[in-house]
Amino acid sequence: MIVLGIETSCDETAAAVVQDDRSILSNLVISQLDEHRPYGGVVPEIAARSHLDHIDGLVDRALREANVDFGDLDGVAATGGPGLIGGVLVGMMTAKAIALVHKLPLVAVNHLEGHALTARLTDDVEFPYLLLLVSGGHCQLLAVRGPGKYERYGTTLDDAVGEAFDKTAKLLGLPYPGGPSVEKAAQTGNPDRFAFPRPMRGRPGCDFSFSGLKTSVARTFQTMAQNGSAVADAAASFQKAVGETVADRVLNAIDRFRSECPEGNTIVVAGGVAANEHLRAILADLTAAERFHFFAPPIALCTDNAAMIAWAGIERLRLGLTDTLDFAPRPRWPLDELRVAS
Ligand code: KG4
Ligand code: ZN
Repeated sequence: MIVLGIETSCDETAAAVVQDDRSILSNLVISQLDEHRPYGGVVPEIAARSHLDHIDGLVDRALREANVDFGDLDGVAATGGPGLIGGVLVGMMTAKAIALVHKLPLVAVNHLEGHALTARLTDDVEFPYLLLLVSGGHCQLLAVRGPGKYERYGTTLDDAVGEAFDKTAKLLGLPYPGGPSVEKAAQTGNPDRFAFPRPMRGRPGCDFSFSGLKTSVARTFQTMAQNGSAVADAAASFQKAVGETVADRVLNAIDRFRSECPEGNTIVVAGGVAANEHLRAILADLTAAERFHFFAPPIALCTDNAAMIAWAGIERLRLGLTDTLDFAPRPRWPLDELRVAS
């Protein structure tokens, strides 16, 4: 089975061709970073127009690079939400047109399911597993029992963790996008200089909260000399606080997962923040101590891409799950509201 994937839900225009033996035949991403940088964040209108400008050419290139034609495809999968609605519309309309003209099955993929199933594209991970989904818009812990079968253990009460990285970067005067620049600045900083809070630590459950941490960084930083070492120290201290907060929540999730899914012993991290090496190292240590297996997809497959959408399409097509041409793109679409496969 060969599937074309399309991703346009945020600021990356992406197209990929993936085969059901887990080979990625092509995986192309056009980042709009330069277009949004002057505004310090993603501008939905600019994003939608840019997706529209690039998507047709990118799909062509993805097919050529994969050495396949529309006629070789067994399906087309596109992100159907959640995300910036203008962008999702562009990707879905493109996929619908291809499906209609070439008589292919259409799959509207939940973007979060794309992230959630990536570990099964890169590694032989079996259901059930515990998923830590950490991105710019999402911060959740979920039990994954199969495509469409998710149980949310916890979510953020305010900011997503990637959002906290992005806002902290702005406060510290670090360049956009914030996550990678905070990580870079942190490399030369002292993580113990500032005692930032570890929100929710020690509390039962698996929910997150990051707004207090962000406020604490802002307060501390406004009252001190803002030289290079202060920036590096604040970045390192912030990153350490995030790591310890996430670790605490993950430990609670492991406890619950053990009792509800005793046959599972794997944790997967996904989403853009999974690119953070400090967080990966903390999670690897913690899961080893808990005798869990730990999988983190390669960084290019953690951040937004279309290979994950094509793969989620393959997983759904295997179960006979397709969508009709009247599928309506969804700006909000929680994973635990997905249609459950039998
Ligand atoms: O999954 P993703 O590409 O897009 C969303 O669906 O949100 O995640 C983007 C988020 C941004 O907030 C970005 O700052 C963050 O992931 N991020 C990082 C790193 N690389 C990307 N956060 C921390 N450390 C990184 N190295
Ligand atoms: Zn994402």
